Parts: sequence; structure tokens; C-alpha cells
Amino acid sequence: MRRCWKCLVATAGLVPVAGLLIAWLGLVPVGATGGHWAVTEWFLHWTMRSSVRTAALGIEKPASFEKEAHLRVAAAHFETGCAECHGSPVERRSAEVLAMLPPPPDLKASIGQWKDEELFVIVRDGLRYTGMPAWPGRGRENEVWSMVAFLRELPDMNAARYQELAGGMSAGKGSAFSSCLSCHSQSREDGDDGSPVIAGQSELYLKQALNAYIDGDRESGFMEVAVSKLEPSDIVDAAHHFANRTGGKLSAKVTAPAVDTRVLTLVHTGDPVQKVAGCNACHDGRNPRYPLLAGQSRSYLRQQLLLFRSGGRKESATELLMSQAVRNLSNDDVERLAAYYASIPSTGTAR
Ligand code: HEC
Ligand code: HEC
Ligand code: HEC
Repeated sequence: MRRCWKCLVATAGLVPVAGLLIAWLGLVPVGATGGHWAVTEWFLHWTMRSSVRTAALGIEKPASFEKEAHLRVAAAHFETGCAECHGSPVERRSAEVLAMLPPPPDLKASIGQWKDEELFVIVRDGLRYTGMPAWPGRGRENEVWSMVAFLRELPDMNAARYQELAGGMSAGKGSAFSSCLSCHSQSREDGDDGSPVIAGQSELYLKQALNAYIDGDRESGFMEVAVSKLEPSDIVDAAHHFANRTGGKLSAKVTAPAVDTRVLTLVHTGDPVQKVAGCNACHDGRNPRYPLLAGQSRSYLRQQLLLFRSGGRKESATELLMSQAVRNLSNDDVERLAAYYASIPSTGTAR
């Protein structure tokens, strides 16, 4: 009996050694031709499904994520960041992509198997050993939820609807930086408020913002992919181009200015008790270091204020002016200020 124990221990000890030897001799195939054995394939997918299902248990779906989703921005991102692998309603998967192991699935067919929370986990975290990337903007769960809402629509989406979403406003196509316009359209008449208006911001601020995405100081999966191929000279050109473009700052949805005494106090003098600085000390449009807020969409303003408040948006300039100015804002004040600046037309004077 004792001898048998020793044999078992010795055999157990030898297994990893034998494994290492086989790997060292180069006998483990790593080529992608021929695919996996059926049993390996089953095992890998079973493991993946179980892992995604367990990770999704901790995810809380925002109640109205579909209503708040920015489908145009998500579609434009899908076209540049996902379609090359997964295909799209206007493009099939290429032969190279189909030769990947595992091949990226046609999402139109496979989305239905996943719950919203599971899709969220897959898109946010990616899938290890498959080529499926994680979301580039860390902490930007709102962006991932927009993508999930887009994926939900994908199975029933025809080519015309996809092109309309992903192509954005066709005005300006073919001009310099037209790829930017698929998200940063000129006006908001089509109801697209998923990305900020950049036309008319100061050149200095635009350059600072673009560099912040490139250097990883500002997290946004949408923008990090959009700027990843820009050269330093493109940054200068883009900043110059958009700073001198006009006509994008008026929100079509504006009805009456969202003004009350509380918001006017916050904007002009601030609240010394809560240590909130008056916004227009910086954001009155006169200093090119500070972005114009007037005419920006409510959802963008709200999102950025929440990011500054929680430390999720670092400042490009080092003084931490903005984070200090808003760190004590209440949720109600965030809503008030977002509504206020979204409802007033831009002065457009920051240059
Ligand atoms: C470099 C190629 C590549 C890119 C780019 C890519 N994926 Fe994937 N994706 C994959 C692969 C490969 C799988 C399959 C993994 C598997 O079979 O286990 C996958 C799986 C998925 C799945 C799970 C589908 C299923 O039924 O198994 C979803 C959802 C998904 N990707 C969404 C996206 C989205 C959204 C984007 C863009 C933000 C994206 N992918 C970008 C390669 C890619
Ligand atoms: C896929 C959609 C998409 C594309 C394409 C895109 N953007 Fe953006 N852009 C966004 C979103 C969304 C934001 C807000 C991100 C955030 O929350 O920080 C943004 C933010 C910005 C900002 C910061 C604005 C501010 O007020 O701080 C600048 C500048 C900018 N984009 C310029 C560009 C330029 C130049 C291009 C083309 C090279 C481009 N974008 C392409 C979606 C896009
Ligand atoms: C001391 C100057 C200062 C004060 C006061 C200030 N801000 Fe800012 N704000 C900034 C700076 C600087 C930035 C740009 C940060 C960066 O580098 O990305 C900014 C950015 C913003 C942005 C993001 C705009 C965009 O296009 O992305 C919003 C929204 C904003 N501020 C709202 C407010 C509100 C509301 C108040 C008042 C409660 C306020 N700010 C007070 C300096 C200030």
C-alpha cells in the first residue's frame, strides 16, 4: 500500500515534467489551420460561457440603458472597431478573418444567445486567447451599454438603417476629417447627442483634449479608437479645422432657457458653503483654456460633470481647476447645470 502511494506521487510529479518536455520539444501544435478537435472546441466554449455567465451575475443593468444609448456613436464605432472582424449589414467577414482560431462569429446570428449583462461583460472585458479585444476606455461603462443597445438591434438591422446610423450626417463627407463627422455631426437636428459639439471650441482646448485621449489621460473607448491613427501633425490640423468651423453649437432642441435662481447663483457666483466655484469665472467663453459649455448636449454635460466629480476624468492641464470646482456638486445641481448650459445658445467667443 505504501509503495503504491509513492508510485502515485511520483507519477503525479512526472506529469508536469512530461508536459514541459513535450512543449520544449515543440510537439504542441500552435498553428491555426485545421481548427480544434471537437472536444477541445466544446470545452473552450463551455468554459467561456460559464465564465461570462458568472461574471454577468455582478452586473447591474441601468433601467433605461436602451433609452439613453447613443446608437449613432456606437454604430460608427462598430464600423471602425468591430466590423473588420465580425462583418456588418453591409460587409461580409473576410477570408483572413474566417481563418482565425476561433473565427469571430457573425453577430447577427449569435447575439440572441446572450443576455444584456453577458454582452456587457464580453464587450467590456474582451475574450482571452481569441482576439476579441477589451473596451479601450476603462471605467466608461455608459459607452459599453450604448454598444450593447446597438448589438441588440443588429440582428434585425438592414443595410440602409446601418448606413444611416454609422455614416452619420452625410454632409461633409469627403472633406478633411469627415470620419470625425460620423459622430461629431454639425447640428443636432437628427437627435444625435451622443458626442460633444467640437466646432467652435478653441484650438488650444481641442489640441489638449485630443492629446489627452492619445496619452490615456482621458478615457473613452469611442475616442481612443478614433484618434489612434492620428499623427501629431493631424492633431494640429484637426484642432485648427474644427476651431474655425461654425454652425455646430446651437442645439435644435432648445425651447426655453432652463433658468432658476439656484442655477444662476452657481453659474455666476458659486456656492461658498458647499465650496463650489462659480462656473462662469472660467466658462464665460473668454479664456481659450476653458471649453465652451453653452449649446452642448445635456447628456454630455451631465456625463462629464459626473466623471469630474468621481475622479473618472483627469484634467489635461495639471492645476485640477475643474475637479476642485465641482467635487461637491449635488446630483440635483449636476442636473440643473447640465440643463442650463444645454439650453443657452453658444456665444462662440473662445478663440
Ligand atoms: C480582432 C478581431 C475582433 C475584433 C476587432 C472584435 N472582435 Fe468580437 N470576437 C472576436 C472573436 C474571435 C470572438 C469569438 C470568441 C469565441 O468564439 O470564443 C468574438 C466574440 C464576440 C462576441 C460574442 C459572440 C458569440 O456569440 O460568441 C461579441 C458580442 C463580440 N465579439 C462583440 C464585439 C464588438 C462589439 C466589437 C467591437 C467593439 C468586437 N467584438 C471586436 C474577435 C473580434
Ligand atoms: C465613434 C464616434 C466618434 C468619432 C469617429 C470621433 N469622435 Fe470625438 N468624441 C466622441 C465622443 C463619444 C466624445 C466624448 C468622449 C468623452 O466622454 O470623453 C468625443 C470627444 C471628442 C473631443 C473632446 C471634446 C470636448 O469638449 O472635450 C474632441 C476634441 C474630439 N472628440 C475630436 C474628434 C476628432 C478630431 C475626430 C476625428 C479624428 C473624432 N473626434 C472622431 C465620439 C467620436
Ligand atoms: C477654475 C476654473 C473652472 C471653474 C470654476 C469651472 N471649470 Fe469647468 N472646466 C475647467 C477646465 C480647465 C476644464 C477642462 C479640463 C480638461 O483639461 O479636460 C473644464 C471642463 C468642464 C466641462 C467639460 C466640457 C467638455 O467640453 O468636455 C464641463 C461640463 C464643465 N467644465 C462644467 C463646469 C461647471 C458646471 C462649473 C461650475 C459648477 C465649472 N465647470 C467650473 C475649469 C473650470
